Amino acid sequence: LRRLRVFSGIQPTAGSFHLGNYLGAVRQWVALQETHDAFYSIVDLHAITIPQDPGALREATRLAAAQLLGAGLDPARCTLFLQSQVPEHAQLAWVLNCLTGFGEAARMTQFKDKSARQGTEGTTVGLFTYPVLQAADILLYQANEVPVGEDQRQHIELTRDLAERFNGRFGDTFTVPGAHILKDAAKIYDLQDPSVKMSKSASSPRGIVWLMDEPKKSEKKFRSAVTDTGTVIRFDPEEKPGVSNLLSIYSALTGIGVAELEEKFTGQLYGPLKTELAGIFADWVAPFRSRTQEYLDDPAELDRILALGAEKARSVAAGTLADVYEKTGF
Ligand code: ADP
Ligand code: NA
Repeated sequence: LRRLRVFSGIQPTAGSFHLGNYLGAVRQWVALQETHDAFYSIVDLHAITIPQDPGALREATRLAAAQLLGAGLDPARCTLFLQSQVPEHAQLAWVLNCLTGFGEAARMTQFKDKSARQGTEGTTVGLFTYPVLQAADILLYQANEVPVGEDQRQHIELTRDLAERFNGRFGDTFTVPGAHILKDAAKIYDLQDPSVKMSKSASSPRGIVWLMDEPKKSEKKFRSAVTDTGTVIRFDPEEKPGVSNLLSIYSALTGIGVAELEEKFTGQLYGPLKTELAGIFADWVAPFRSRTQEYLDDPAELDRILALGAEKARSVAAGTLADVYEKTGF
C-alpha cells in the first residue's frame, strides 16, 4: 500500500523560526514523516518576492534547514530540500503562469494584503505570481495532501483549479491535491498583543518567541506576557485571549489537555502559570537549540543532506516536468 504523499513548504526566516512556526507547522511535519511520503521544501524562491539581502537569505536558508533537522526531520524518513536547488519549480511555474487568469491571481487575498503593505511600486510581479509558484511546488510531486494552516486554503484552491485545468486541456497529468488543514496545530498569538497571531512581521518584537534566542530572553517574554486584569486561569479566547494563549502553548509543549491545566491552576494567579510555562519552554528549547547548532557547526554535513534531498526531489520533479513539457508542445 503506497503511503499518501504530502508536500509542504516553509520560507526561511532571518534570525530563526518563532514558536508559532514550530507549533503551527514544523511539529506537524515531524509527525507526518512517520505516516506519509513527505516532501518538505525550504522555499527560498518565494523569499525573494520581497527585497532580500543575498548574504542574509543564504544564512536564513541554512538556518531553516538546521532548525528543521534540529526539530526532528529525518532525511531518511522524508525528502528535505531547497526549492532553488530543484529548477523544475521555476520551470513548471512558468507553464502554470500561462494557464492562470490575471483576474484569478488578482483575487488572492494574501496578495491583496501584502501588496497593500508594499505599495504599487514596491510590489513585484513575483509577489503577484507567488501562488502560482506555490501550485508548481505542490503539483510537481503529485502530492495528495498539502498540510497547511487555514490562511493557505485559497492558494490550495487555486492549485486544484490549475491542476484540473491542465488535466482537462492536455489529459490526466496532475494529482489534484486536497488541503490537509492541520488539526492539532495550535494557533499561537503574540505575547504582547494576543489579538494578533505571533508573526515575524509583528510590530512589537517583545511578543515573539524566537527559537534560537538565548532561553533567558524568551523566559522573560513569557513572564511579562500580557494577560488581563482578572485572576482566574480559564481557557476563554474571547474574554481571556492572553491567558488562553499561554494555556495553548503550555498544552502544545507538554501534551497536557487544556481542561486538565485549568484544573491544575485552580486558585492560582497568572504569575505561577507564566513562570512555569517559561521553565517548560526553556526545557524544551535547550535540546532543540543544541541539535540545530550541531548542524550549523558542520556546514559540510548540512550541504550533504541538502544535496541528497535535492536529488531525491528532482527524481520525482523531473518526471512530472517532462510529462508537462511533452503535453504542452515542447
Ligand atoms: P509569519 O506569520 O511569521 O510570516 P509564515 O507565514 O512564514 O510566518 O508561516 C510559516 C508557517 O508557520 C505556516 O505554516 C504558518 O501557518 C505557520 N504559522 C506562522 N505563524 C503562526 C502562528 N502564530 N500560529 C500557528 N502557526 C503559525
Ligand atoms: Na505570513
